[in-house]
Amino acid sequence: MLIFETFLIILFTLIVLLITVSIIYSTVRLGISPMPSSNKAYLAMMQFIDETEIEKKSGPIIDLGSGWGNIVIRIAKRYPQRKIVGYELSYLPWLTSTLIKRLFRLKNLTLHRQDFYQADLSSASVLVCYLFPEAMEKISNKLQREQSNVNFIISNNFALPLWKPIKTIQVNDFYKSPVYLYKIARARARL
Ligand SMILES: C[S@@+](CC[C@H](N)C(=O)[O-])C[C@H]1O[C@@H](n2cnc3c(N)ncnc32)[C@H](O)[C@@H]1O
Repeated sequence: MLIFETFLIILFTLIVLLITVSIIYSTVRLGISPMPSSNKAYLAMMQFIDETEIEKKSGPIIDLGSGWGNIVIRIAKRYPQRKIVGYELSYLPWLTSTLIKRLFRLKNLTLHRQDFYQADLSSASVLVCYLFPEAMEKISNKLQREQSNVNFIISNNFALPLWKPIKTIQVNDFYKSPVYLYKIARARARL
């Protein structure tokens, strides 16, 4: 009995260690942890997605760095008629979100374990993200370089260089983070 309990404790410790190492490794490699947006930031992002619906664009809504899936899954539930896509490189968050997607049988949601910088985002209508300044710069360059149909970008906390947001919500959460709405087609003409 004691041997079995010791075995379970060692197994549990190893699993926790593996999860911790995997998350630390991805965080160092990608420059950001899979920390989810706050609920208030999520509500602000949802409000902006609702506003983009008015334009009746039918391309996918893509979450760049979908983490544990907390945003992308809620978007997929709210818009069952739209194609929703998430890109996530960190293995455990991607695996967790994929399991949740299966649990809820979300047929409109596709989760790729892929680097979104390398992905073809050209058919997307709306990009959603919660990243960091260098990533926003890379996304900005990618949008300028590539021909795409992206109409809107909704970013939690970090601004998109070279573009001016058409709306900003100052979220009253722990981080006091702004959530930005960019309209890409209109702004691109101004550059
Ligand atoms: C702060 S989390 C945001 C999660 C979710 N979008 C949200 O708002 O709650 C950022 C995620 O982006 C992922 N990420 C960063 N760079 C990436 C890349 N180049 N390709 C795919 N995922 C990336 C990270 O692994 C992390 O899980």
